Amino acid sequence: MREKRQTYKRNQIGFLFSLIICVCNLTAQTVIPVATKNNLLLMQTDNSNRLRIIYFGKPLANESEYKAVAANYNYDESNAGIYNSAYTPAGTWNLSEPAIQVKHADGNTSLELKYISHKKEQIDANVAVTSILLKDPVYPFEVTLFYKVWEKENVIEQWTEIKHKEKKPVVLQKYASANLYFANKDFYLTSFQGEYLKEMQPVETKLSQGIRTVDSKLGTRAMLLQTPNFILSFGKSASENEGTVMLGQLAWSSNFKLDFEIDSHKNLRFIAGINPFASEYSLVPNETFKTPSLIYALSNNGTGEASRNLHDWARKYRVLDGQGERLTLLNNWEATYFDFDENKIKALFEDAKDLGVDMFLLDDGWFGNKYPRNNDDAGLGDWQENKKKLPNGLGYLVREAKKEGVKFGIWIEPEMVNPRSELYEKHLDWVIRQPERPEIYYRNQMVLDLSNPEVQDFVFGIVDDLFVKNPELAFIKWDCNAVIYNAYSAYLNKKGVPQSNLYVDYVKGLYKVLQRIRAKYPKVPMMLCSGGGGRADYEFLKYFTEFWPSDDTEPIERIFLQWDYSYFFPSITTDNHVTDWGKQPLKFRVDVASMGKLGFDIVAGELDTNDKIFCKEAINNYNSFKDIVWHGDMFRLVNPHENDISALMYVSKDKSKAIVFNYLVNNRFSITATKRPVVFNGLDANKRYTVKEINLYPGVSSTFSSDKVFTGDFLMKAGFNPNVTLKRTSVVLEVNEVK
Ligand code: DGJ
Repeated sequence: MREKRQTYKRNQIGFLFSLIICVCNLTAQTVIPVATKNNLLLMQTDNSNRLRIIYFGKPLANESEYKAVAANYNYDESNAGIYNSAYTPAGTWNLSEPAIQVKHADGNTSLELKYISHKKEQIDANVAVTSILLKDPVYPFEVTLFYKVWEKENVIEQWTEIKHKEKKPVVLQKYASANLYFANKDFYLTSFQGEYLKEMQPVETKLSQGIRTVDSKLGTRAMLLQTPNFILSFGKSASENEGTVMLGQLAWSSNFKLDFEIDSHKNLRFIAGINPFASEYSLVPNETFKTPSLIYALSNNGTGEASRNLHDWARKYRVLDGQGERLTLLNNWEATYFDFDENKIKALFEDAKDLGVDMFLLDDGWFGNKYPRNNDDAGLGDWQENKKKLPNGLGYLVREAKKEGVKFGIWIEPEMVNPRSELYEKHLDWVIRQPERPEIYYRNQMVLDLSNPEVQDFVFGIVDDLFVKNPELAFIKWDCNAVIYNAYSAYLNKKGVPQSNLYVDYVKGLYKVLQRIRAKYPKVPMMLCSGGGGRADYEFLKYFTEFWPSDDTEPIERIFLQWDYSYFFPSITTDNHVTDWGKQPLKFRVDVASMGKLGFDIVAGELDTNDKIFCKEAINNYNSFKDIVWHGDMFRLVNPHENDISALMYVSKDKSKAIVFNYLVNNRFSITATKRPVVFNGLDANKRYTVKEINLYPGVSSTFSSDKVFTGDFLMKAGFNPNVTLKRTSVVLEVNEVK
């Protein structure tokens, strides 16, 4: 009875928390705050009941002063409309770059949005969602702006929902997720660009009047040439431990557009959303179009703090099993490519066991019979085991791996098809292609039309079939190696849906498949892979536990890549494999791959004795500190872009243990940076610590003893010299509290 009463009480409290605080005010000058612990966004209606952004900055102590903010600014708005609209409509009073542009059912292209109401729903003590309803006074057309905040982490997720009750579909020509406005002097934008094997390269520019656009039009993925991740720094160029910064990302796994516009007042307008390129979306009456989310972390103490908050948020609230464990692995891709059979694979299980990793991952090449997958030009789409290579099927391999004491994972690329495949022969109408034009291939393959529910069933079926037949299958590597050329859907054509829905419906179809997979298989780890450009964002990571940042595994390149990904993603999500790429010694490669989720893609059986001893020892060490790399706080200490060395450190949440990775990134003979210590961060100034070098190659001893005791204060001010030199190019330090 008492228990029942307590449950009732708890429910009551829960109800109170989720009670909606409704603030409806139709008079002018409604002020709507969206606050995190260290940031305040203020919106206010003007005399025409249009919603404007009036403040974005440090929290104001007195709510009663919110209304005084707007009067501080003297903007002349007589010519081009207003710049600080909270969601800029096109076709009426505003001539600035719009957030939304539509063609109504009757062909009219004007849109006005007026404030109607707003509400705040407190989900728990840390999380709240504010929603603001705006309506067109002439057409039955409405937009709701959503702002979800995680107060402690200073993270905001912003999206928009669009709906109408017109007689026929309305064409959404532009439909941004977010429209923000910042009044400040000087804005610096870091965007991340690249190409295959050169992913995620940061470029910082000071924004000047006009629009700087970062976008992509690749169809199947967002990243490769540009990425939807960015750093905005206010007043000065971004730095690690000071200054006001925003780390942001549009969480959409396809074409995106980020517009950073310095207006004539020298303020920054920012509009982020799905790329409107070839994507006029036909929205039927009463259906809600939900845009993807813009997600951003804010800090007044530089990019380091913003990243740590974003990592905490991601692990706790977003990434599938973000607070869980991951499997170390041996992958056969670079060891065998397509050239393997059952016996060769079985022998690799022994190598995996001998190394001490958790799992063996069978890569590309295991399927296709009429068109065997012996190269990348055939077989994709035919997901039956190749009888010649694997006469006893996958089930046999899963069992054999188990006998060796290792788990078994498998590679698939389910969104794609080779023209030389049975799937292509049977279902040409499932392939995205222009019926009247020559086909264009990317890695000899094409993309399946996921706007088609039959294709969604097919893709779900690939994964489902694998798990139904092999319940002990432990891992999926989900690859994506093509972009959409010749965008055209036979399915949409048959349904009478405009072709310009395809880019959006492709992604929505893919998310539907992933939702079905996760409804049936909630936790099994899946890696999101894309040979070129990486494929990772916080919508995808609701369904995936980790991602493959790049095919480039050359370890010096990797130090830069992992550093730059680390602004946005916690290391538990980043898969790093030791391969034979580059000229760095094995130790260097293993150390670099240990800054994330460690894997191997080498012929382990051919390692010489010392290399083998080293790897086994390093895997043991990794198992002892992986919890800190996965779940601790990350501090970027020495930036490889600016120095001869690079250093990065992970600290346990209780500050009792840390791991510091130090590398030489410049091979010139005279290196001054190594003469100086590396200044640590994140420790407890009052605790005492020892510093010990680990991951030493057999027969090599450290240049310093681990007996000395230092205070956290000393290590975080005077620092510690890891003695990185041309002879010691990679040094891993274990920092332990002395109790
Ligand atoms: C691209 C991936 O990045 C590689 O690791 C490998 O899985 C190949 N695809 C297989 O085709």
